[in-house]
Amino acid sequence: MLKNPSSKYQPFPLINIPNRQWPSRHLTHAPIWCSVDLRDGNQALAVPMNVSQKLDMFDALVQCGFKEIEVGFPSASNTEFQFNRRLIEEKRIPEDVTIQCLVQAREDLIEKTVESLIGAKQVVIHMYNSTSPAQRKYVFGKSKEEIIAVAVKGAQMIKDRLHRLTAGGTKVTLQYSPESFSATEVEFAKEISEAVMDVWQPTPENKMILNLPDTVEVAMPNVYADQIEWICTNIKNRESLIISLHTHNDRGTGTAATELGLLAGADRVEGTLFGNGERTGNLDIVQVAMNLYMHGIDPKLDFSDMSGLISMYERTTGMTVPPRQPYAGELVFTAFSGSHQDAIKKGLAGYEQHKSIWDVPYLTIDPEDIGREYREVIRVNSQSGKGGVAYLLESEFGIELPKDMQREFGPLANDIVDKLGREVTAAELKGMFWKEYIERESPYSLHHFHADGVDGVFTCRCSLVINGKERGITGKGNGPIAAFAQALIQEAGAPAFEVATYREQSLSSGTEASALAYIQIKTTSGKTIWGAGVDTNIELASIKAVLSAVNRAA
Ligand code: KIV
Ligand code: ZN
Repeated sequence: MLKNPSSKYQPFPLINIPNRQWPSRHLTHAPIWCSVDLRDGNQALAVPMNVSQKLDMFDALVQCGFKEIEVGFPSASNTEFQFNRRLIEEKRIPEDVTIQCLVQAREDLIEKTVESLIGAKQVVIHMYNSTSPAQRKYVFGKSKEEIIAVAVKGAQMIKDRLHRLTAGGTKVTLQYSPESFSATEVEFAKEISEAVMDVWQPTPENKMILNLPDTVEVAMPNVYADQIEWICTNIKNRESLIISLHTHNDRGTGTAATELGLLAGADRVEGTLFGNGERTGNLDIVQVAMNLYMHGIDPKLDFSDMSGLISMYERTTGMTVPPRQPYAGELVFTAFSGSHQDAIKKGLAGYEQHKSIWDVPYLTIDPEDIGREYREVIRVNSQSGKGGVAYLLESEFGIELPKDMQREFGPLANDIVDKLGREVTAAELKGMFWKEYIERESPYSLHHFHADGVDGVFTCRCSLVINGKERGITGKGNGPIAAFAQALIQEAGAPAFEVATYREQSLSSGTEASALAYIQIKTTSGKTIWGAGVDTNIELASIKAVLSAVNRAA
């Protein structure tokens, strides 16, 4: 990279708007959406979609609620042409959906495009030519006047052929894009757009779409918003236009540019699912729609089955959705850090109680709204705190570790996860808990236990295997646990201890209901140690928990 980038690059000039309005506006409703997955998205694939993949994608877009879908560039390839014909002839386009086709301002291409649309109920014919200084100079070698002439001629050629569609009852909306708009002088963009308007003669009843593409992001999103506001304010016959945004993501701000462009007065947004498209991609429509949704605005698109949509997208395009893609990525509703996990756990519990406005920390939306599960929210890796470990055991297996025991088991689990060097599943975590507490059989293992109580005094008789040898022991106390503790200390040589805490819970796994007991013992040196035992009999579960703690202390 250059030490002095200004020797090669320059900032984009600002737009002179003395009294810009967009910064103090806010979004209140969804724009008109137009998916360009089947055209801009498709043309950027290493292997473009075949007709059956395009049909799959088309159906999924309809299912999401798109009412305008750019289905292709029918003059550019036979697949695209055939796709249009199948959509129309097989009556696959719902009554309320408009298909859109892109075409350059060239007669042969316009001819073919019109032919591909015959028989459709409603269509948008989208004509474009490029207008920026670099395109004018390097690509076309044309003056501003000559570039305007190209647009006007194309607009006229389309107008001259409209009767071939309207005669059959097709409703046609016309769309013009000064391609590379955001890199074009606003005055020139206005001039060329008005020249096209002069040909097409839009009215408030029969509007045309003026699409203002951020073909390549060349500036910050506030500059794009200024460009949009400038056009909305200065163009003639604004009321006869649907102002449309079409952003790309070269500087990583496609979503921001679109949102600010909407504040600046645009009515319509073009983009793709998950941002597929040339280079860094088109605008990810899912993001803008879900951003509206998280502010309580109906986006008029439905992403309830986000996982199904991702599968369709990956199957048809061969692209993948990155794990951290907003709203859609696999890790979006996953918290790795302990403090996040703890906050989410508390937030979810709070939300469960009040069930009104979503205010769970770290989660912009309820994952359930887009078909995701809370189960995905928390996973455990070496960075996770005790809260995450406890949450997972409780949410997956109903194991409710006492708070103080969480403090003991959390670091033990983290150590093991750290050594594994990877994330662990809930089942693996339960395995660790079982190994640490439930399956402890050394130095003491219980073979048999029986306790009787008379007048509040309990006597226990049990047999233990101690260091490989079976041995019978007895003890007395004010309950079975106390009697067992005495037998262990006085007859089995266990170091002296007292029971500090006792908790129990029922646990159902499969058809069997069992009990899980937690015991915390305190040794004479003041050390506290937890144990746990599981059995269908609650008394035996508690005895096993005592032995688990004593074994762990040994
Ligand atoms: O990015 C762009 O400018 C385009 C136009 C054809 C609308 O895709
Ligand atoms: Zn584009």
